[in-house]
Amino acid sequence: MAEYYGTDLQIAIQKRMRERHVWIERTPDIANGGRVLNFVEPEKTGWDRIRELFAEDHVISFTAQPLATTMPHLKATFGDNCQYPYWNVFIGNVQRVIEACNAVIADVSTPMGWQLQSLETPTDDQISEVQKLNLATGIAPYPAFYTRGEAVPCLTTCLWNELGIMVATASANFRYHTNSRFSGHIFEGSVSVAEECRGMGLGKLLNASVLIDSHKLYNWVGAVAQARPDNEPSRRMIEACGLEMSPDLVTISVVASDEEFTR
Ligand SMILES: CC(C)(COP(=O)(O)OP(=O)(O)OC[C@H]1O[C@@H](n2cnc3c(N)ncnc32)[C@H](O)[C@@H]1OP(=O)(O)O)[C@@H](O)C(=O)NCCC(=O)NCCS
Repeated sequence: MAEYYGTDLQIAIQKRMRERHVWIERTPDIANGGRVLNFVEPEKTGWDRIRELFAEDHVISFTAQPLATTMPHLKATFGDNCQYPYWNVFIGNVQRVIEACNAVIADVSTPMGWQLQSLETPTDDQISEVQKLNLATGIAPYPAFYTRGEAVPCLTTCLWNELGIMVATASANFRYHTNSRFSGHIFEGSVSVAEECRGMGLGKLLNASVLIDSHKLYNWVGAVAQARPDNEPSRRMIEACGLEMSPDLVTISVVASDEEFTR
């Protein structure tokens, strides 16, 4: 298993995220996204500090910010040579999400012999399979230390077919500081379904399972997820699990290279 996984750029950031762990853990206005630093309250962090961190990482992310004001501000700050991909933000309260997820789990069945499991401490081999499936589906993988829960509590749900091959995975982590605006919220995502298994409800099943199982462990009060505006299967999968798309909040990444960083 590789401790860090992905492109050279992705690996360089993952290493720095590990080194910064103690600082991030103490700071409410940022969050450890494992594969990219998340600014949750950028005004508190300060734009000089944010510029310094961008110079180190070349990819940074602004969580759940108003599109209309944040996008022009970022473009004015970081210039025309960067990319500014953004994700719609979905939020759900615990009651609604759990109810919807239980309905999904009751509705979606898997073929005989397939196995679904949520892992708090996955083995090296399991982490390696997750990373490979993520990369194959265009998702920037979490580094191994993050998936093992060494940075923030993290749960990984996996589905194996009858031959023991991993065909789907999803992840949920408790990355927000108790004094942040997302205190008590779980972040769920990195849902990857092998191409040949799509459209069977597995994305919904994995998403619902990781939410239900993470709630049993962390007792979260709300859930946050993200999907690119052109990713309709992802949006519908998240909505089926009881989260609602925010009318104005988006997560924006600033990417210095022309590399596609993550879906
Ligand atoms: C997104 C992804 C996980 C969905 O997995 P999946 O197993 O194919 O999805 P499901 O079968 O559970 O379907 C989820 C919803 O999307 C809809 N859907 C599925 N494929 C679709 C398509 N090609 N176009 C439009 N809608 C689609 C389904 O009808 C369902 O919605 P509904 O419940 O309202 O009917 C999968 O496409 C994938 O791995 N994509 C690449 C990685 C990615 O983008 N992950 C999400 C990151 S946020």
